[in-house]
Amino acid sequence: MIKSPRGTRDLLPPDTALWNFVEATVRDVFRAYNFHEIRTPVFESTELFARGVGEDTDIVSKEMFTWEDRGRAESDRGQSLTLRPENTAGIVRAYIEHKLWERGLNKFFSIGPMFRRERPQKGRYRQFYQIDAEVIGPAAAGSQSPARDAEILELVATLLDRVGITNWTLELNSVGCPADRAKFNEALRRALAPVVDKMCADCQRRAVTNPLRVFDCKVPADQPIIETLPTITQFLDEACRTHYDEVREILEAVHIPYIENQRLVRGLDYYTRTAFEFTHGALGAQNAILGGGRYDGLSEALGGPAAPGIGFAIGEDRLVLSLMETVSAESVMRKPDVYIAPLGAGMNREAARLARELRRHDLVVELGDESFRLKKSFEAADKIGARYILIVGGDEVAANAFALKHLVSGEQVTVPRAELAQRILQTK
Ligand code: HAM
Repeated sequence: MIKSPRGTRDLLPPDTALWNFVEATVRDVFRAYNFHEIRTPVFESTELFARGVGEDTDIVSKEMFTWEDRGRAESDRGQSLTLRPENTAGIVRAYIEHKLWERGLNKFFSIGPMFRRERPQKGRYRQFYQIDAEVIGPAAAGSQSPARDAEILELVATLLDRVGITNWTLELNSVGCPADRAKFNEALRRALAPVVDKMCADCQRRAVTNPLRVFDCKVPADQPIIETLPTITQFLDEACRTHYDEVREILEAVHIPYIENQRLVRGLDYYTRTAFEFTHGALGAQNAILGGGRYDGLSEALGGPAAPGIGFAIGEDRLVLSLMETVSAESVMRKPDVYIAPLGAGMNREAARLARELRRHDLVVELGDESFRLKKSFEAADKIGARYILIVGGDEVAANAFALKHLVSGEQVTVPRAELAQRILQTK
């Protein structure tokens, strides 16, 4: 038997009903904040992620699905391509490629699969889904303002509320600007020098190439050392500190609770200033339901104009897992309103006509078959949880009125064709 590859999974009904509920709800919320959907390819040039996310990150150095294209055309051959491990770099690439600022477009969302070669466990998959939102634009349009950061955080809180996720925790930090980080990296190098040989191989490498990434280490034995390292907060310059203070002031004004976590640096290199994660207790070890932050230099790093930005990505798999704590997928899945049971030869075509009429009224209709005996039709209607069974036999067709039975109460009535849809809708 061929199984789905390690770290991937099939999303099946009824769970897909919860996924659809989440996506419909977030689309509504994005509309209220004037975000527009963008769809970018699921694979991009490898270089986009190397330059955007950063060579020293775990994502780029260990987790990408990368291949060399073997296309027939000379221009395809040898090109290195990668399944997107995240979508901020792709959206910023599209922003630059299509000069979206010229059309006044600056708020985007996207929903789709991402790919990382991680060790699979609950809440961690190799193909997973993100709901991504990005605000990006020229500084003159206000994209650098701390008001955007606070608006994004308030948007996340509204989204989680509307979907029905409570008990989240917002962890907030500022990772400063590149100048702050250069000073911080120096301090980290100094602090790491006497202890780094006791740390894991990755940390030894990071201590040289990009000391900030030591904070991404998950090796338990390294944690006591990481606890003693300086934090970025001490190295923030005046402008970054003021920015951070203003974000927090607006959050307090709109009553969004948060905690500060000075060790939160996020696993991607593009972040500047505000960095955040929302965690949820129900998730266990993989407790980050979403993460995000500001990336003021990303557009320029990818060859575009200066365009400060901020965004976040929700792990949709984790969002759905948290939601399952309180909502059953069964309860959001729409059951058939009516099962149509054609009785005897020639009745399939009558049933088809009726199904067509009823479906026009937005009713969920399941069709039986004229070869079924009545008992078999009842069993089938029960099995799928239909509310009603509608019996379509020769007598009913002649009278143009049909036997409609409510499957829970057992009540049966004869209803003229013209009133059927109304009758079924009434008891919804
Ligand atoms: P990230 O923190 O790498 O950020 O991922 C965001 C969220 O995606 C995580 O909080 C988690 O819920 C989910 N996630 C990540 N990896 C997996 C996995 N292997 N399995 C299941 N869920 C996963 C980013 O990707 C940034 N692009 C977010 C961003 C947008 N920053 C600014 N704009």
